[in-house]
Amino acid sequence: MSKPAIENIRHILVVGSGAMGSQIGLVAALAGYRVTVQDISEEMLEAAKFQLASRLKANVAKGKATADDADAALRRLTFTTNLAAAADADFVIEAATERLDIKQQIFTRLGELAPAHAILTTNSSTLGSSKVADASGRPEQVCNMHFFNPALVMKCVEVVRHRQTSDATVEVTLELARRLGKEPVLINQEVPGFVANRLMAAVQKEALALHAAGVATLADIDATAKSALGHPMGPFELMDMVGLDVIDFIAQATHAQTGEEADRPHPAITELVVRGRLGRKTGHGWYRYAQ
Ligand SMILES: NC(=O)c1ccc[n+]([C@@H]2O[C@H](COP(=O)([O-])OP(=O)(O)OC[C@H]3O[C@@H](n4cnc5c(N)ncnc54)[C@H](O)[C@@H]3O)[C@@H](O)[C@H]2O)c1
Repeated sequence: MSKPAIENIRHILVVGSGAMGSQIGLVAALAGYRVTVQDISEEMLEAAKFQLASRLKANVAKGKATADDADAALRRLTFTTNLAAAADADFVIEAATERLDIKQQIFTRLGELAPAHAILTTNSSTLGSSKVADASGRPEQVCNMHFFNPALVMKCVEVVRHRQTSDATVEVTLELARRLGKEPVLINQEVPGFVANRLMAAVQKEALALHAAGVATLADIDATAKSALGHPMGPFELMDMVGLDVIDFIAQATHAQTGEEADRPHPAITELVVRGRLGRKTGHGWYRYAQ
C-alpha cells in the first residue's frame, strides 16, 4: 500500500453537501484543488451549488476575490450523487449526516472505492474516527478532520487521531489543512467533544449557572466575555448562532459516551429547544432576532 503524501493530493472528495460539506468543498476549490462534492440528495446538491455561486459573487462584489479566481474555483468543483467519484480521490472529507450507521456505510464504500493511498477523514463533531476506521479496511489512514461552522471563515481545524492512525496520515492531514488556509491543531486522544467543544461547553456551563442564579443578565454576561476575556461573541450569542438544538445534541452525544452527570444536556437549553427557540435560525433563542 503506497504511503499517503501531500504531493499526491490533487483531487479531494467531500461527502455530504449540507452546511459543512458545501463550504468545505469551496474552501478546497479556492485553495486550488479539484473537488467533487457528493450527496445522496439532488436537492441538497442544487442548494449547495446555488449557495456557493452566490457566496463567490458576494466575495467578488466586496473585493475579497477576483472574478477570475471565483470562476476558476467554480470550474474546479463538481457535484454528483455518485460515490464512485471516490475512485480517483486522493483525500476524502466525509461531512454527511451525524449518524453512525450512515457514516459506517460510507466508510465501507470508501474503503472499497478509493485508491490505496487515499486518506479518509470525517468532519464529525461527536463521533471519533475509530468508530468508522475498521469499516474502511485501512484504519491507519483514517482520522477526524473537524472544521468549524462556517467553514469558509473559521480558521481552526481539529485533526484528531485514533489509536491506529499513522503518523503519515496525521502529518498529511495537518499539512493539507494549512494549504486550505486553516490553522490546524492536533488532538492526540479521541476524547468526547475534542478540545474546542469542551472549552465551549465549560464556558457555557458557567454562563448558564451565573444567569440562573440571577448574578447578571444575559447581555452583561455576554459583554463580560467580550470586553474582559476578548471573546468575539458572548456565550449566549454563540449558543444562538450555533443553534440550541445542535448544542443540546452535542451534550446528549457526549453524555451518552461519558455517562458523566456534568455532561448531561442543560435543562434550560433543552427547554428552549422544546419550545422551538433554536437561536438565530428560528428568530428566537436566548435573544430575539429580526427575521
Ligand atoms: N453544523 C455544524 O455546526 C457542524 C460543525 C462541525 C462539524 N459538523 C459535522 O459535519 C457533519 C455534517 O453536518 P452538517 O451540519 O453539514 O449537516 P447537514 O444536515 O447540513 O448535511 C448533511 C448532508 O449529508 C447528506 N447525506 C446523508 N446521508 C448521506 C450519504 N449516505 N451519502 C452522502 N451524503 C449523505 C444529506 O443529504 C445532507 O445534505 C456532521 O458529521 C457534523 O457533526 C457540523
